[in-house]
Amino acid sequence: MTRPTTAAADAYLAGFAEDEGYLDFARFGPPARAVVDAGAAAMSAVHTAGPGTVDGLMLAEDRALAAAAALTGFAPGNVAYTPSTSAGLFQVAFALTGTVLVSPAEFPANLYPWWRAASAGRLQVAELPPGAVTPDALRAALAGTDAGAVAVSAVDFATGARADLAGLRDVAGDRLLVVDGIQGLGAVEADWTAADVLVAGGQKWLRSGWGTGLLAVSDRALARLDPLLAGWTAVEDPTRYDGVPHPLAPGADRLRTTNTSPVAQACLAAGLELLASVGVPWVAARIAGRVEELLAVLDRRGAVVTSSRAPRQRAGIVAFRVPGVPGEELHAVLARSGVTCTRHGDRARLGVHATTTPAALARLDEALTALH
Ligand SMILES: Cc1ncc(COP(=O)(O)O)c(C=O)c1O
Repeated sequence: MTRPTTAAADAYLAGFAEDEGYLDFARFGPPARAVVDAGAAAMSAVHTAGPGTVDGLMLAEDRALAAAAALTGFAPGNVAYTPSTSAGLFQVAFALTGTVLVSPAEFPANLYPWWRAASAGRLQVAELPPGAVTPDALRAALAGTDAGAVAVSAVDFATGARADLAGLRDVAGDRLLVVDGIQGLGAVEADWTAADVLVAGGQKWLRSGWGTGLLAVSDRALARLDPLLAGWTAVEDPTRYDGVPHPLAPGADRLRTTNTSPVAQACLAAGLELLASVGVPWVAARIAGRVEELLAVLDRRGAVVTSSRAPRQRAGIVAFRVPGVPGEELHAVLARSGVTCTRHGDRARLGVHATTTPAALARLDEALTALH
């Protein structure tokens, strides 16, 4: 692993200020001061806008996309900005035809686009069987269909299970592998180019705030996608206002709908540049270490871990329940100890990041001790 310099690591860690019991990165990753400042500076600039202000702000998109290409391994021309995971997946769903395989256990952001495109008569949806989307499960599911694409999360929002993207790629063969990467990108090391389509909002593990995200596509996907929702900025010569539809732009730009916020783009650029200053391997190693410690606390206090435990099959999400303790009570006790997390029924979902300190684990320990 290429380690960041101590100065870079210290500067990264010093840039964040979430509460020490904050363990809700799977819901939202509090951005660094540098991201907040970048967004505030962009907003201030438009407040006093003059000649060149808007053009200048719009350069943030190029910076964000260059950083997104470096992060994902996709060529710069194959990466587009998307303001959310859903927006990116809707673009893709309305650009595909044929049958798409997807598990009904996916987070709804990775279901509605397929369902809506199916309602519009663009494609058919076939369900993957319940359980983790493993290469074996995909192989079995593909045997009975003529599916041309499969959609899966890189890390499951509820179970924390990390998909074997390389294995899924092998099994998918020439079919398109569409990956919702929001719960994994920035938190784990992976070869993201296994995906034909990678979509990830930047508001969680990338810590770049809402309204940010990226959509990366392989050349195979570009050749096959027919973007019905391509808007006016997705075409050649977009500012030639001649009242006729223009040819699609080359590369991932054809998956745009319109210009998105340069304020948000400045945030994404700052967030990804900060991440690059330490590197994903370092962040991922810190997350993996904290998860290990978190699991030890849960085991010691008799909690039942319901998320993936094996290092290769997990990322930064840990879910658990406490036998005999209803979810409401569990959540209340955690909150009283200052632990911020997400409740899923009787389970609590925790997420740790590189900035999570032992103090957060101590709070969790205290809360679980109070239950006995
Ligand atoms: C797997 C997954 N996909 C997508 C999202 C969010 O989608 P969007 O960026 O459209 O809000 C979440 C969580 O909010 C998620 O867990």
